[in-house]
Amino acid sequence: MKVGVFDSGVGGLTVTKSLIEHKLFDEIVYFGDTARVPYGTKDSKTIIKYSLEALEFLKNFDIDMLIVACNTASAYALEELRKNASFDVFGVIEPGVLATVNTLADKNSSILILGTKATIISGQYQKLLLQKGYKNIISLAPSLFVPIVEEGLFEGDVLKSAMEYYFKDIKQNPDAIILGCTHFPLITKAIKEYFQGSVLIHSGDAIVEYLQTKHHLRPKTDNTILKLFASDNLEGVRKTAKTWLRELV
Ligand code: DGL
Repeated sequence: MKVGVFDSGVGGLTVTKSLIEHKLFDEIVYFGDTARVPYGTKDSKTIIKYSLEALEFLKNFDIDMLIVACNTASAYALEELRKNASFDVFGVIEPGVLATVNTLADKNSSILILGTKATIISGQYQKLLLQKGYKNIISLAPSLFVPIVEEGLFEGDVLKSAMEYYFKDIKQNPDAIILGCTHFPLITKAIKEYFQGSVLIHSGDAIVEYLQTKHHLRPKTDNTILKLFASDNLEGVRKTAKTWLRELV
C-alpha cells in the first residue's frame, strides 16, 4: 500500500518515523511544503489553499491514502481535502484525541494541548476533547519551539528558557500533554523532564494506533520505500530525514 504524507515542512518526518517503524506501508511519498512553512501563523484560507495544492501534487503518485501529518493543516483543511480526493484522507487531530481518551480514563484529568497559533485558535482539539467529556483543558502555542527544534536544539539552555517562558503559569503537571505540532515529539525528553509524570501524546503513534484499530491496517512490509519531495531545499529535507530517521533509512 502506498501512502502520501503531507506536511508544511520537515516536521511531518516525526509522523513518517512512526509509520516506518510500524511497517504499515510499502511506500511513503512525503511532501513537505518547505517553501511556504510555517503554516501555523497563516490564516485558514491560505492553509486550505496550500493543502489543496499539496494534494494535487501527491495525486501524481497513485497513492492509496493521504495522511496529513501537519496539525495545522489537519485543523483547517481536512474537509476540503476529502472533497477533492478519491482516496481516504486522515488528519492527526482525531487520532490524537482518541489516543488521549485511551490514556485517560478519568474525565477530570488535566490535559495540556501544545500546538501552533493556528491550531490552538482553530479550537479543534479542545472541541473534540470537550465532546469526549474532558473539561480540564489548557491550550498553549509555544511558537518558538518550532525554530528551536529546526536548529536541532533538542536539549540545553535555549530550550529550557523557552519552556520556562511558555509554561510559567502552569502550576500543576498535567496528566497528559498533547504534542499537537509535528516538531514537538523531538523534544519529548525535555518536556518529560519539565513535566515529570505527564503522559505525552505523539501524533505519529496516534495515527498508527488509529489506522490499526479503526481501519485494521496491519504490519505488512519489512522495507518501506521513502520518497521525499519538497517545494524548496530538498537537500535540506534529505539531511533532516537522515538525522531524524537515523536508524530507519
Ligand atoms: N507542521 C506544523 C504543525 O504540525 C508546524 C510547523 C508550521 O507552523 O507549519 O502544525
